[in-house]
Formats: sequence, C-alpha cells, structure tokens
Amino acid sequence: MKKRMALLAMATVLGLSMTACGGGGAKGGSATSTSGGTDKATSTSAASAGSTTASGDVANKDKPLVWFNRQPSNSSTGALDMTALSYNDKTYYVGFDANQGAELQGTMVKDYIEKNIATIDRNGDGTIGYVLAIGDIGHNDSIARTRGVRKALGTGVEKDGDINSEPIGTNSDGSASIVQDGSIEVNGKTYVVRELASQEMKNSAGATWDAATAGNTIGTWTSSFGEAIDVVVSNNDGMGMSMFNAWSKDNQVPTFGYDANSDAVAAIAEGYGGTISQHADIQAYLTLRVLRNALDGADIDTGIGTADDAGNVLTDDVYVYKADERSYYALNVAVTADNYQEFTDSTKVYDGASKQLDAGTHASKKVWLDIYNSSDNFLSATYQPLLQNYDDLLNLEVDYIGGDGQTESNITNRLGNPSQYDAFAINMVKTDNAASYTSLLDQ
Ligand code: BGC
Repeated sequence: MKKRMALLAMATVLGLSMTACGGGGAKGGSATSTSGGTDKATSTSAASAGSTTASGDVANKDKPLVWFNRQPSNSSTGALDMTALSYNDKTYYVGFDANQGAELQGTMVKDYIEKNIATIDRNGDGTIGYVLAIGDIGHNDSIARTRGVRKALGTGVEKDGDINSEPIGTNSDGSASIVQDGSIEVNGKTYVVRELASQEMKNSAGATWDAATAGNTIGTWTSSFGEAIDVVVSNNDGMGMSMFNAWSKDNQVPTFGYDANSDAVAAIAEGYGGTISQHADIQAYLTLRVLRNALDGADIDTGIGTADDAGNVLTDDVYVYKADERSYYALNVAVTADNYQEFTDSTKVYDGASKQLDAGTHASKKVWLDIYNSSDNFLSATYQPLLQNYDDLLNLEVDYIGGDGQTESNITNRLGNPSQYDAFAINMVKTDNAASYTSLLDQ
C-alpha cells in the first residue's frame, strides 16, 4: 500500500511538473517560475496523493468554474459576457465593486487636497495639477478608477452618458477635450484642478498595468511639467509605487494608488498619499470558496452568508452578491494616514474565514488556477499569497499557473489536460477572451 502511495505520489509530481514545464514556452521562464505556487502544489500533492485525483466521471464542461479579477466582458463597451458568466450552473465571477472603490479613490484624493491646501500647490499658481497613470483602457476596474478620480475632481467630461475614461496624453494649458478643468473651493478660495497628463501604462511587449512604464513616464512628465505637478494618481499601487519611488517620495508629492499592497501601505508613513483596499482577503476566499461549495454539492452561500460546519462566514459589509450577474463583489475601504496601521499585512486571511475544513467531509480536490501576469504586483504580492493561505484551509490542491500578461495562449496552452482537475479558476489576459478557455472545457 505504502509503495502504491509512493508511486501515485511520484506520478502526481511528475504530472504536475510536466504541466509546469509544458507551459513555460520560450518566453515563459518568469511565468512558470511565478509558481512558488507550483512548487507548493507539487509538495501538497505528494503528501495527499491518492485522495486527490480528479473525479473522472464529470465532464469538463460541467465542472465548477470561477472567473476572477477580470470579469468576462466586452473591453470596449464594458457589457458583461453572460454566456461566459453562466457557462454552467457552477460558474461564478469574483471581483470587487469597481464603482464603489473608484468613488472612494476619487474622494480620498479630493479630501487630501482640501486638507492640505496650504501646502499642496507647489508653484503657488492657484492650479492643482495632477497626473494619472492608467492601467488598461479595456479593463473595467481601470476605467472605473479613471472615471472616479475625474468625477471627484470635476475634471470629467461626459461621453455617451458616462465620464470619458480615455487617456489624454498631455494637457498643460487645459485645452484637452477629453477632460476639463475642475475647481475646488477651500476657505473661500477657488483653485483650478487640472489633469496635466494621463497615459495607459503598457509596455512595448503589450503588458498593461506596467509598473516599470509608469516609473519611466513620471520622469518624462516631471521634465515637462516640473513644479506644476502637485498630485500623482494611479489606477493601482504597482504603478503608483513605481512613480513614488522614482520621483514623488523625494519631492514630497502625494501619490495615490489602489490595492493596499503591503509595500504601498508601508509607504504611507513616508508620504504615499493613500490607497484603496479592494478586500483581496475576501476575494481570494470567495474565489476558492465558490469552487469548494460547488464541489461539495453544497448551497453556494455556505461559508459566505451562512456559516459552514467549521464556523466560517462573512459579514455583509464586506461583499455583495448579484445573482443576475452571477458575481460576487468585495467592498472597498480607503487606506490613509488615519488607518493604515490596520492594513500592514495584505496577505492576512480574513478572521471570519480562517477555520480549517474537515478533510473527511470536504475531501481534497484539484484546482487549475492561473494568474494572468506573474509580474503584476497586486496579483503576485497580495492575491496569490492569500489564495495559498486559503487553499489549505479549504482542502483544495491548487496548481498555480503564471502568465506573461500579454498572450492568452501562453496560459491556455497550459490547460492541456483539464480532465486532471476538478475545478477551474481563471484570470484572463483580456476580458473578451473567455471563450478561449471554455472551448477547451467543451472538448
Ligand atoms: C488590480 C490591479 C491589477 C489588475 C490586474 C486590478 O483589479 O487593482 O492592481 O493590476 O487588477 O488585472
């Protein structure tokens, strides 16, 4: 028996490392190596081999599927891709409330300006100038954040019934048509607020939300605008921190991001203006939890709105579920100098969902999960470590696949044998590309 276990363990390890290698491809070195996760999955499977081979009798198209972080949707119009979101009756999306978070980010920036009005206008010209780093012009979270900031600062211009979220390039004299000059009144004095520049931070290979590009761009912006830049805003902390480290920290210019990654939260003590927690602890839990529930044949609300047998449950101030969108959305919280001490470890599991499930009643299952870009700061430094904490608690043996951030096939190539898995968690490169994955499950 022991020998059989050992053989099985070896076979599983081999299978896994083949999956890992198979995907590497020419460019994939860094992607495959994301998978600190893959190593971990390998050792977990060795330990629990025998109990976790995918149940062969369920067709791949009927297995639980969760989309996360990139909601299946049209990247031009934002319309949800309901075909992908209801691929089967065990399909869900997990993300966060993009509009609520975007509004918080905009308000956080505006509040900061108002509170610090005495010192913020560096050249004293009565105009508060800001620059904006945009993540991905086709990603609904990025679009919402650009709109949220423009709305709060009064710089937004309507287009087709919503605030235009396109990048402006540069706008030193306020003549751009995509944005307009806003105004803020503090202590009876009115200040102009101007978006001096904004740009999608995409590198030459096509990866979006690119921190290095943002770090370079701030150099270009400061040489054009100098002391006219009073505030730096970013669609996320990866790009925000890159600009902060390259320039704003030394020049004491408040910089605002999104995600509450640990490094960004720590930087608040050094002058980073603030960030938004998108409650990654709740999202990572929900990502795996909906799979666990579907695999157990349990009510989908188990361990979410209703306590599970171990006592895990979420309070309703941390998420919402929209049944018609088959989507769970975590709620956001602003993290500023006032409260950042509570957010210093972005990889800590949520207290209410930290109890181990019993392995007898919730047998170990195998999950295929990809991170679209292994160098994305938020996903690699915050989301994946959280997933790795929860996978143990939920008895899920997860194979983590890291993509290169630009080519869907770099990831789909590594879903070569879906029958090896009981469930799938998918983070697409492009929100329009759900069918590239479901077509593999259909076969
Ligand atoms: C995060 C970004 C991240 C992006 C990747 C967003 O929700 O806030 O930091 O780069 O997802 O898809």
